[in-house]
Amino acid sequence: MIHIGIVGLGAIGQRLLNRFMDHLEVQVVAICDQIDSLVTETAAELGNVGTYKKHQELIADPKVELVYVAVPPKIHHQVVMDVLQAKKHVLCEKPLANSVEEAVELWKAAKEANVIHAMNFPLNYDEAAIKFAELINQNYIGKLRRLQLTMHFPEWPRPWQRNAWVAGREQGGFVLEVGVHFIQQTLKIFGDITNITAKLELPTDPNKCETGIIASAELLDGTPVLIEGLSQFAGKEFIGFTAYGTEGILSLDNWGELRGGKNGEKLQVISYETVQSKNLIDELIKAISGQQAEIYDFEVGYKSQEILEKLRKL
Ligand SMILES: NC(=O)c1ccc[n+]([C@@H]2O[C@H](COP(=O)([O-])OP(=O)(O)OC[C@H]3O[C@@H](n4cnc5c(N)ncnc54)[C@H](O)[C@@H]3O)[C@@H](O)[C@H]2O)c1
Repeated sequence: MIHIGIVGLGAIGQRLLNRFMDHLEVQVVAICDQIDSLVTETAAELGNVGTYKKHQELIADPKVELVYVAVPPKIHHQVVMDVLQAKKHVLCEKPLANSVEEAVELWKAAKEANVIHAMNFPLNYDEAAIKFAELINQNYIGKLRRLQLTMHFPEWPRPWQRNAWVAGREQGGFVLEVGVHFIQQTLKIFGDITNITAKLELPTDPNKCETGIIASAELLDGTPVLIEGLSQFAGKEFIGFTAYGTEGILSLDNWGELRGGKNGEKLQVISYETVQSKNLIDELIKAISGQQAEIYDFEVGYKSQEILEKLRKL
């Protein structure tokens, strides 16, 4: 049984809270948010749970073994650093931090604290994304010719995540919020990304996030990587992660739809029913009990942040 404390009870904090509650080997023992009503309403649903307004108090609660950090990106560094200083295990939302400097500090501090440090990069535990990686590794598309990430959001922020920070330039935008998932997948499946040049379309209001990006980069062998994103237009939301190869195409669309085809054939939906996916919570429990586990640690968070900041800050 692991005893979890959650800092941040917003959109994703609530989503993971429900998954923790459904897991037999997890007990949520403490919750924290700076908004009082969120804490009291969530506590009323949970029953016996420590309630805090300040993250330092939740971290100091002796019942808490692992802290799940689900606050906006700018606050990750502060909260996670305090968790590490208390030498408790930590699960942090992506992106790891709000700059490369913060991310490297967290990675170093996590190694020194000698605790389990994990990121919530859910694609790694999703069947469609796992099948995508398996087929690439099985040479389904032949030799990779081009990798393309398309991010189209008629509305940004999306209706389910209407908070001020995600619309802001400092710690929001779809490149940060969505792009980082696919940066991490690219690093995992295809290796390092170099030679990045990016052009952002930015609103005149300096506080508002990008409305477009066109970026090009390369994998280490020179294979081109194209990143194209646009928001605020008439149309349908679409997120595509597409690998074009000498023998075929494979595309992970809208997070969970997999399509592929060999050259000369039509694109087809590819089934991933037989994929055995792991579960983040099971893997965290294994890691904490000293077993081999599939977790994506702060090194992965830091390396993804390095690429993310090159795209965001150019
Ligand atoms: N892994 C994923 O698929 C995924 C999906 C969505 C969001 N996220 C990430 O999760 C994080 C949170 O996103 P969200 O959409 O839930 O944001 P949100 O704004 O809905 O929720 C954040 C919560 O943190 C609270 N908070 C802020 N500062 C705090 C502080 N100092 N102490 C205590 N509470 C504080 C806010 O009051 C709010 O309730 C972000 O880093 C985001 O990038 C990850």
